[in-house]
Order: sequence, then structure tokens, then C-alpha cells
Amino acid sequence: MPALKVIIFGANGAVGKAAALEAHRKGASVTLALRDVFKTIAGLPDLPRVKADLTDPSSLREAIRTSGATAAFVYTMNDMEPAFEALKESGVDYVVLLSSWTIYPNDVEKAATSHAIPARHAKAEIALKASGLKYSAIRARYFASNVVFESAAVKKGQVDVLNPDGVNDYIAPEDIGTVSGAKLFSEPEIVPIIGARLLTEREAWRIIANELDCPIKINELDYDEFVNRKGISLAIGTAYPDEIKYPLKLRPVGLENVRKYAGRDPMTFEEWVKIHRKEFLS
Ligand SMILES: NC(=O)c1ccc[n+]([C@@H]2O[C@H](COP(=O)([O-])OP(=O)(O)OC[C@H]3O[C@@H](n4cnc5c(N)ncnc54)[C@H](OP(=O)(O)O)[C@@H]3O)[C@@H](O)[C@H]2O)c1
Repeated sequence: MPALKVIIFGANGAVGKAAALEAHRKGASVTLALRDVFKTIAGLPDLPRVKADLTDPSSLREAIRTSGATAAFVYTMNDMEPAFEALKESGVDYVVLLSSWTIYPNDVEKAATSHAIPARHAKAEIALKASGLKYSAIRARYFASNVVFESAAVKKGQVDVLNPDGVNDYIAPEDIGTVSGAKLFSEPEIVPIIGARLLTEREAWRIIANELDCPIKINELDYDEFVNRKGISLAIGTAYPDEIKYPLKLRPVGLENVRKYAGRDPMTFEEWVKIHRKEFLS
């Protein structure tokens, strides 16, 4: 049987790269679609590259024509209707979209009118459904890599936190990408996924401090201060009670989906921090 031809948009991103690796490992003929085809991508084999931008439909048509791909991994962008139309017209029949767990409890229409993070991803899912393409939506909530945005604060030994005793799942982008790459080979579905363990922000920063062997003090901000510094959407998502963020029924489903598609348990936050420790120091 000829190899499945897949195209990975954003193949130099943390999730895109892992999706490309998994699709390659599973035997697909993989094309890497990049805005800059000359970018060095450490850890990927030498695979064909095409230049493409998800906000430029003509570049998508050209990328699909060159690659002959019928399945595509895409990141969520704003206003994706023209992108999905271009992919479909050019011969793609199945899309795996990186979406968000915040579209809970599975109410896409309601999420589309919510605040920025769920709304953006829900609108992309709605556009994908309307396109008539077959699709899977990989819904992840809180990437482990979010902590690296605080690396300047880590160097100063103090991080600003709202709700330090609230939990996050700290899923590894590598796991999200592996599930996404595997999903290119299987039936369309909505796939909520979750990290190995829910950790409070306090616990997460303690893990980072231990790994970096440096003290990190928690500076608890009030809601308005946090909104001023980080934006309203992140504040709303952070302030939700744990059982709203992570509905009890959905937690085992998210874990099982990682095991099913990645073929292993999700990476723990401790493992992820160890692998990425240099990113806090650069
Ligand atoms: N952080 C969270 O907790 C969270 C939760 C749920 C979902 N998400 C989603 O995850 C995404 C981040 O994933 P990541 O960690 O893999 O990010 P990343 O490492 O920063 O990679 C993002 C990738 O998207 C590519 N990209 C950006 N704009 C593009 C465009 N117009 N056309 C084609 N490619 C484009 C980038 O390419 P260039 O190198 O050319 O810029 C890069 O390859 C967020 O954007 C969000 O949608 C995040």
C-alpha cells in the first residue's frame, strides 16, 4: 500500500515537530510546511520542505500541489475558513487541528462566544466542520512550555502568580504532537488530552526550582494586577475553580487518549523540566 502523504504546517513548532516525527515514524510520507524553509529544526530527519503560511490560501494550494498530501496537521489561527477551503480544493481530505481543552464541556458554539482562548479555537473547529473536511480536534489545556515565558522572572528569583493553589495539567507539547501525528492515521474524532498529573502552580514552581537548583519565590497577584500584566483571557482561565478547568469525568478520558495514541503514559512535568532546563537559562 502506498504511504499516506501528510503535510505538517508549523513543523518547526514544538507540537508540529513532534507531529512530524510521529507521522514519519509510522511510515507516512511527510512534508514539512514552514513559513521559513531555511530554518534549522533540530531533531527532525531531512524531510521535504515547502513554504506555506496558514493565513495565505494561495501558499496552501501550492504546498498541497507540491506535496500531494491528503492529510494535514494545522495550528489554530484566526479566521481559518479560507485556509480550510484552500486545503480542501487542493486535495486534502482530512485535517488534524491543534485545538483547546477549554472548549468544555464540549459546547463549541458557546465557547465561540466566550473569552479569547476558547473562542479562537472554537471558531477554528466550527470553520473546519463547515468546510466539510473530515477532521480531528486535539484539545489540550495547559502546555508545560508556558512556564518558559517566565524565564526572565525565574532568573530574578520571583514569579508573579494568580491562584497559586489552583491546578494545571502541564502537558508536554511533545505528547500533544505525538498524539496529533498518530491521529493523522485514524478516524476523525474530538480528542481531549491531559498531562500526567494536575499540579498546583506552587508545586510546579517548586519542581522547577529544584531542577534549576535556585530559589523561586511566588509573588501572588490580585486579579486586576494579573489582568494588567498578562491579559484577561489568561486571567479568566487561571481563576476558574479546578473542577471547572478539569471536569472530573474528562480527566481519565484525557489520560487514556494520550496512552492510546502516543502508546505510553504522558510525560511528567519533572521529566519535561529536566529536558528543557536550558530554556530557562538562555
Ligand atoms: N499554551 C497553551 O497552554 C495552549 C493550550 C491550548 C492550545 N494552544 C495552542 O498551541 C499553540 C502553540 O503551540 P507550540 O507550543 O507548538 O508553539 P510554537 O513552538 O511556538 O510553534 C508555533 C508554530 O506555529 C507556526 N506558525 C505561526 N503562525 C503561522 C502561520 N501564519 N502559518 C503557518 N505556521 C505558523 C510557527 O512558525 P514560525 O516559526 O514561522 O513562527 C511555529 O512553527 C498556540 O498557538 C495555541 O493555538 C496552546
